[in-house]
Amino acid sequence: MTTVIDGNAVASDLRDRLTGRIDDLATEGVTPTLATVLMSDDPASETYVSMKQSDCEEVGIATRDVEIDPDAPAERLFDTLDDLNSDPEVDGVLVQMPTPDQVADSEVIRRLDPMKDVDGFHPENVGLLVRGDPRYKPCTPHGVQHLLDHAGVETEGADVVIVGRSNIVGKPLANMLLQKTAGGNATVTVCHSRTDDLAAHTGRADIVVAAAGVPELVDGSMLAEDSVVIDVGVNRVETEDGSTLVGDVAFDSASELASAITPVPGGVGPMTRAMLLYNTVKAAHLRRDLAFDGL
Ligand SMILES: NC(=O)c1ccc[n+]([C@@H]2O[C@H](COP(=O)([O-])OP(=O)(O)OC[C@H]3O[C@@H](n4cnc5c(N)ncnc54)[C@H](OP(=O)(O)O)[C@@H]3O)[C@@H](O)[C@H]2O)c1
Repeated sequence: MTTVIDGNAVASDLRDRLTGRIDDLATEGVTPTLATVLMSDDPASETYVSMKQSDCEEVGIATRDVEIDPDAPAERLFDTLDDLNSDPEVDGVLVQMPTPDQVADSEVIRRLDPMKDVDGFHPENVGLLVRGDPRYKPCTPHGVQHLLDHAGVETEGADVVIVGRSNIVGKPLANMLLQKTAGGNATVTVCHSRTDDLAAHTGRADIVVAAAGVPELVDGSMLAEDSVVIDVGVNRVETEDGSTLVGDVAFDSASELASAITPVPGGVGPMTRAMLLYNTVKAAHLRRDLAFDGL
C-alpha cells in the first residue's frame, strides 16, 4: 500500500515544537525576529511575504515588514539591508525574490549578514553546507530531508535521483544527502534538462525527488516499484474550470508504484514554510551564543 506523506501534519508538529523553544527564549527576554523585505508589486510575491509573516505570528516570532518601491535604485535595498544587518533585534532577514531588474539577486544575497541569512543562500552558508557543517540549511531541501526522516525512509546506502539542479533545491539537497551524517550517506544522482534518458535514472532509484518545475514530468512508468517519491514542484496549470496546482509528478500513476509519495499541495510546501521558522529560531540562538541542538 502506498503511504501519502502528509506535509501539513509534519509541519504542524514542527511548529508546535518550535513554539516550545520560542517560549523558552521568552524566559530569557528574547523574541526571535524576522525582517521581510519586499521590493516588488507582484501579487504572488506579496502573498508569499504575508504568508511568511502570519506563519511567524502564529508561533510567536516577531516580524518587521519592509517594503521598497520596485522602481527605487538598488542602493535603496542595499542601505536597507545594511540597517537590518546592524540592528541587534533582527535575527533573520528574508528578501523576497525575484528582485527588480536593477538589482542582481546574487548581490543581494552577498550583502546579507550570513548570521541573518535564514534562507541559507549566502556563499558562506553554502560553503558550510557543502563542507558538512551547515549553519542554515535552505528551507526546501531541509523540508525534504525532514519529511524523509519523519516517514522513516532510510537514506544511508539509498540510490537517490534528484531531478533539478537549482541553487535553492537540487544542488543543496544533493549536498545534504551526501553528507556522512544521519539523513545523508546516500548515493546521489542529479538530473537536469540536458540529462540523456531521465527515465533510466529515475527508474533505478530508491528515492526520487522531482524539482524541475515541469508539470507531471515524472510518471509511474519512470519509477521502480516501491520507490519513495518526493514532489517539490508547484505548477499552476489551466483547466476547463480555471486553473489548478500540480506537481512535477503524475500523482495517480506514480502512486501505483511508489511505497510513499508526497502530494501537491500538502507535501513539501508546508515544510518549506516551517523550515523558515526553524532557521529564524536557530538564528536567535546562534546570534546570542545559546545552544541550539535541533528539535
Ligand atoms: N514546494 C516548495 O516549497 C517549493 C520551493 C521551491 C521551488 N518549488 C518548485 O519546485 C520546482 C523547481 O523549482 P526551482 O526553483 O528549483 O526551479 P529552477 O530554478 O527553474 O530549476 C529547475 C531545474 O529543473 C531542470 N529541468 C527543467 N526541465 C527539465 C526536464 N524536462 N528534465 C530534467 N530536468 C529539467 C532544470 O535544468 P537546467 O539546469 O538544465 O535548466 C533546472 O536544473 C518549481 O515547480 C518550483 O515552483 C517548490
